[in-house]
Amino acid sequence: MDKRDLVSVFDYEAAAREKLPKIAFDYYSSGANDEITLRDNHAAYERIRLKPRVLKDISQQDVRITLYGENISMPILVAPTAFHRMAHPEGEVAVARAAGKAGTIMILSTLANSSIEEVMAEATGPVWFQLYVYKDKEATKSLIQRAETAGCKAIALTVDAQIWGRRERDIKNRFRLPEGLSIKNLSSGSDQFPDGESGSGLASYVSWQFDPALSWKDVEWLCANTKLPVLLKGILHPEDARLSIDHGAAGVIVSNHGARQLDTVPATIDALTDIVEAVEDRIEVLIDGGIRRGTDVLKAIAMGAKAVGVGRPVIWGLAQDGEDGVKRILDILRNDFELAMRLCGCTSVKEISKDLIF
Ligand code: FNR
Ligand code: LAC
Repeated sequence: MDKRDLVSVFDYEAAAREKLPKIAFDYYSSGANDEITLRDNHAAYERIRLKPRVLKDISQQDVRITLYGENISMPILVAPTAFHRMAHPEGEVAVARAAGKAGTIMILSTLANSSIEEVMAEATGPVWFQLYVYKDKEATKSLIQRAETAGCKAIALTVDAQIWGRRERDIKNRFRLPEGLSIKNLSSGSDQFPDGESGSGLASYVSWQFDPALSWKDVEWLCANTKLPVLLKGILHPEDARLSIDHGAAGVIVSNHGARQLDTVPATIDALTDIVEAVEDRIEVLIDGGIRRGTDVLKAIAMGAKAVGVGRPVIWGLAQDGEDGVKRILDILRNDFELAMRLCGCTSVKEISKDLIF
């Protein structure tokens, strides 16, 4: 495919569909059940209209933000997604290099095909560690300690996936990892999942390994046992946002896990306002899900998010061209965001307000 024809995230998605094996593309792209929320995550942004201001000097622009003491180039982060070496041989290491070159944060998944140490040896920008809590508490503690030792700057505790959503494409494909790939952060015995004879091998792994008893006392334990800021990823209810603050979290990520868990929950952008109001600026509020255009980023920030995370778009870039492909995706989103800002009369992120929403 001629790279000059790849001008949007959607072009990269179409290219990835062509390039990746079906079992891999289906895993990366699918949502839960009827994929109603999967469609809605981006459609909700398309329903929101902007109300631009004019005659503002837009000759200069600054899209940098500061997040937990890190100065980053733009309010667009790499959301944690699993199994990057299924998309490209360099996997998470390529993504970390690209995120560093783009000057933004990569959130590294527990379920990576590259170890924390491998990624951190190559990362040039800030990396957060996304944590899944295993039944094996020692394994969980080891992940936290390794992330701290390796220099991760925050922990994103995923709270919406201790049991697995029903991803019917994975079930039909009997999803399993390709030969030679493993969950590199876990020791043998927990680094592989079953071959998917009974459906999705990943779903079997999760029911075997993840702790369904996860509760607020574990959040309190984690916040007390790490010096890193802890964000709770997967918050959709304003009361849970309030409880996040009460239990020591430094931030929440408004997320429905890319619509891969419970179908027919709201699009994340539709859940954002109530959560922003509940938090009352006491901790940071980030959002992910369905971000595909610069106008989506602008709308999320105008409605109160500090920054956004992108998941699938990064995988589409990785599949197409490794590190360069991921960098291209992050550049496309950044350039689109800068253009949307300028056409709205905004020259800095702090000028973006709810007044821009029609
Ligand atoms: C994810 N997501 C996810 N979340 C998490 O906390 N740990 C993980 O390992 C993964 N893995 C993962 C794999 C794939 C293929 C997808 C699509 C998603 C959820 C992810 O962090 C994020 O919430 C969504 O991907 C955001 O939506 P978009 O940008 O993919 O629409
Ligand atoms: C997923 C995981 C890995 O959604 O979070 O596939």
